[in-house]
Amino acid sequence: MSLKADYILVTHAHQDHILDVEAIAMNTGAIIVSNYEIAIYYQARGLKAHPMNHGGNWTFDFGNLKYVNAIHTSSFPDGSNGGQPGGFVIEGEHKNIYIVGDTALTMDMKLIPLQTKLDLAILPIGDNFTMGVDDAIIASDFIECDKVLGMHYDTFGPIEIDSEAAKKKFFDAEKDLMLLEIGGAIEL
Ligand code: NI
Repeated sequence: MSLKADYILVTHAHQDHILDVEAIAMNTGAIIVSNYEIAIYYQARGLKAHPMNHGGNWTFDFGNLKYVNAIHTSSFPDGSNGGQPGGFVIEGEHKNIYIVGDTALTMDMKLIPLQTKLDLAILPIGDNFTMGVDDAIIASDFIECDKVLGMHYDTFGPIEIDSEAAKKKFFDAEKDLMLLEIGGAIEL
């Protein structure tokens, strides 16, 4: 599969989030955007990276990007310091997307809609390491976005979920939970 990428947004340094970062960055020349520690880690490996930190905005050619709080951890697989984990709010030309990253439900999420009217939120729903479905529904209220793409579920034992039950819970809360197959795509 040949991926095309201009930017790679890295929320934190855990293995299940960064395993292909170097390969994709090398094959595409994409710029890695992440927190300071992660950006520096990749710059030291000769890759292009743009460091940010919590609360910071930067305008890229695709729009404005803000790195925001997440409650999680962020060590690299080799134990080196991956800084503090975060999420990204993308304000594009036509659509706004919140990549929440691996996180618990946080009160800070209520800050997002004060500045950005979201079209899509990418929320973890697998529980155990992040929030689960019930907290994701509350998060969807906090961020005032009913259109949710689920992530961080089913890929290994402790985060396996009942997808149909999850979709029904969102549906009953008058929200839309989308779940992508591997290799799948959605259009906004
Ligand atoms: Ni993680």
